[in-house]
Amino acid sequence: MAEPVMNEPTVLPVRGAAPYDVVVGSGLADRLPGLLGPGVQRVALIHALELDDLAEGVRVVLRDHYEVLALGLPPGEEAKTAAVAAECWESLGRAGFTRSDAVVTFGGGATTDLGGFVAATWLRGVRVIHMPTTLLAMVDAAVGGKTGINTGAGKNLVGSFYEPAGVLCDLALLRTLPREELVAGLGEVVKCGFIADPTILDLVESTDPESLDADSPVLRELVERAIAVKIDVVVADLKETGGTDGHPGREVLNYGHTLAHAIERAEDYTIRHGEAVAIGCVYAAELAGRVGSLPPEVVARHRSAFARVGLPTSYSAVPFVELRETMAIDKKARGSTARFLVLDDVARPRVLTAPPEEALIAAFDAIAEVGS
Ligand code: GLY
Repeated sequence: MAEPVMNEPTVLPVRGAAPYDVVVGSGLADRLPGLLGPGVQRVALIHALELDDLAEGVRVVLRDHYEVLALGLPPGEEAKTAAVAAECWESLGRAGFTRSDAVVTFGGGATTDLGGFVAATWLRGVRVIHMPTTLLAMVDAAVGGKTGINTGAGKNLVGSFYEPAGVLCDLALLRTLPREELVAGLGEVVKCGFIADPTILDLVESTDPESLDADSPVLRELVERAIAVKIDVVVADLKETGGTDGHPGREVLNYGHTLAHAIERAEDYTIRHGEAVAIGCVYAAELAGRVGSLPPEVVARHRSAFARVGLPTSYSAVPFVELRETMAIDKKARGSTARFLVLDDVARPRVLTAPPEEALIAAFDAIAEVGS
């Protein structure tokens, strides 16, 4: 990957059936009118209400060109409900939104999920641009077109694949992101290193983690590399139907997520997603070590890479039997067969089906012991 010129945005093209660009840089709101294109009269700015002040810069740019309807959302996952989606639809109706109008989302992953869902469903689909404001949303939720809401039946069970017309990852927005949230976002970045891009791991291992802030060129390279990993995966397998030549396809992004989802649920979603993913990836590595595929030094590298950026690598707060029950009903399970994403080496992922129960337990014992 070419060395980024710090002040020049980097454009990462997503060359799928509906191509769009992911732009990474600082101060990107001015690009919105160009991305929205001609013919748009009204723009719904769907943003987390708590980011009202930060969203002002976007509102100002949009108001110069469009009639702007600002829709504030409740915080975090509270935004991802059918009731909130319905309120947005009602607002779009009252404002006379037509198919040639557009949505801009501004917020973390819950905002891009909900806002993308509203855009996908209003008049069966209007243009949407995502402006993620967290590191996690930049490297994951905003790219790849997954949208959705939570229901009584579970998280993200209702939604659609609906690709945006563009994604603006404005790193300047990370200046006000709490440190713990930035560190949690690095969980998904390091995961991308293990599943596809070892340079991410080299960068993490050779950089003072304290120096990774919104203005760090290394953070920018990490973001660009993680997004490039996600782009490659979603271009090859947008709808998660499976990869080719033994590659798991989009499911690979779920590396570490089987245990992570179970921990998040057991902790009533008080643990950050990236923290749970870090633990889950170390677990997946321990499991792969036990079923014979992953060399011990790569298992150890999982622990050291996640720990280096400040993420947890051990977990024993909830007994394995409880987590195992949740893993059995994970929505990624197919039929009654347990499926885990594992590695044979860095950047060599595969699906492991029906591993022996003793290996699952022993891998958990290994993450419960170390550092706990
Ligand atoms: N967050 C995983 C995916 O986009 O498939």
